[in-house]
Amino acid sequence: MTSRKMTRKTTVGSIDPFVLDFTAGSDLQLDLALVQADCIGSAAHVIMLSRMPIRPKVITGAECKAVIRELGSIMQRAAAGQFSISLDDQDVHLTVERILTAKLGDLGKKIHTGRSRNDQVAVDLRLFAREELIGTVSEVLTLAGVLLGFAKRHEAVPMVGRTHMQPAMPSSVGLWASAHAESLLDDVALLMAVYDLNDQCPLGSAASYGVPLPIDRALTARLLGFSRPVHNVLYANNARGKIEALVLQAMTQVMLSLSRLAQDLMLFTMPEFGYFTLPAEYGTGSSIMPQKNNPDVVELVRARVARVMACELAVMDIARSLPSGYNRDLQEDKPGVFDAVKKTATALELLALAVGSASWHKKAILKSLDDDSLFATDILEYLVRKKVPFSEAHQLVGLTVRHAIESEKRLREWSVQEWQKFSSKFGADIHDLFDAKESVRGKKTIGSTHPARVKQTIVEWKKTL
Ligand code: ARG
Repeated sequence: MTSRKMTRKTTVGSIDPFVLDFTAGSDLQLDLALVQADCIGSAAHVIMLSRMPIRPKVITGAECKAVIRELGSIMQRAAAGQFSISLDDQDVHLTVERILTAKLGDLGKKIHTGRSRNDQVAVDLRLFAREELIGTVSEVLTLAGVLLGFAKRHEAVPMVGRTHMQPAMPSSVGLWASAHAESLLDDVALLMAVYDLNDQCPLGSAASYGVPLPIDRALTARLLGFSRPVHNVLYANNARGKIEALVLQAMTQVMLSLSRLAQDLMLFTMPEFGYFTLPAEYGTGSSIMPQKNNPDVVELVRARVARVMACELAVMDIARSLPSGYNRDLQEDKPGVFDAVKKTATALELLALAVGSASWHKKAILKSLDDDSLFATDILEYLVRKKVPFSEAHQLVGLTVRHAIESEKRLREWSVQEWQKFSSKFGADIHDLFDAKESVRGKKTIGSTHPARVKQTIVEWKKTL
């Protein structure tokens, strides 16, 4: 091996450039997403330092103002795209400190008092996660609102309900759309629970074991808008990776909801179903088959769930075997966090647009209900109401359905006499059952298909939006 003589002087000493490049990893690009959080974290830290009860003061009130002014201008420049991280600086934390030192001299060098990059990056990531969780909640609620709007417009339209992908019984468009909305509302509850766990400030835990200075962790937590500090300074660092995994678990759950919705949309927009059409601009053509308009958007949403899950798994796998205290492995959780958060946001936005502009085709939806075996469960309940024991009725109705298929005569066309060959309990009123709308209206219990129930569900869920 050739020895590399060239070393680079960095803020933390002399490091072989190859090693520096390796250890900085993706931070030069990824940390750009943390500039605002890093500056805000530093501002809170500096305010706290200026109030620290020691004499002489580490940082005076006037110095604190000067630092905050500079931090503000760094944030402005970063927002305008004028902030980059060089290999010498390695990451956002050292870049900000170098800029402050260049502007403010020794004062810039003081701001790291009582702090480590370990708690600094943990704060940055929690501030970043907080914004993303709020943004995701709002995007999830938007999509849930779009689905509830769709449910409302078609609340009473009957549609085949399926299990095992096979036709099962009459259901409704309203039930289908509001089911997907309800899944998203569960995801909101999870996002909020993760928000609460994330809402603890690790600042002041420093390298992992606290500092021998009278820093005020409650003050920095409050200044940064956290509801409380992470209590144990060691856990504040151990929680790195765990919190990110929790954020990604919430994102994964959102993506799972989206994937199920995407799958349904894919099926229901197939020409064989033809229930819905997605707007042409959400599909793409084929390079060889001129007639094609493929549902790429929903397909990619389905696939990106796997990508987001992989990010979550990677973060958990990085964190799972780490010994207590900060470990550099944790830096590797950032690519997954940023990637998953972005993928979830775009998937949410695209599906809201697609569902919001989907058209539905009543004729195709109703045509799929033109299958008398869909009413088998209604016939069974009819017999149960006439006191036939459930499993006996189940067997009996099975026989009628099979006979209808074999004799090629639809159940709705049978005479009462034909029905009575199977059971004397059948009367003329059996003919009333073959009405999808009535079947839908028959299911009146909490959360069921009766239009009044669906309406009630929509009203309830809309309140939570
Ligand atoms: N880039 C690092 C990370 O994401 C920052 C903390 C570095 N800490 C250290 N002790 N080298 O974890």
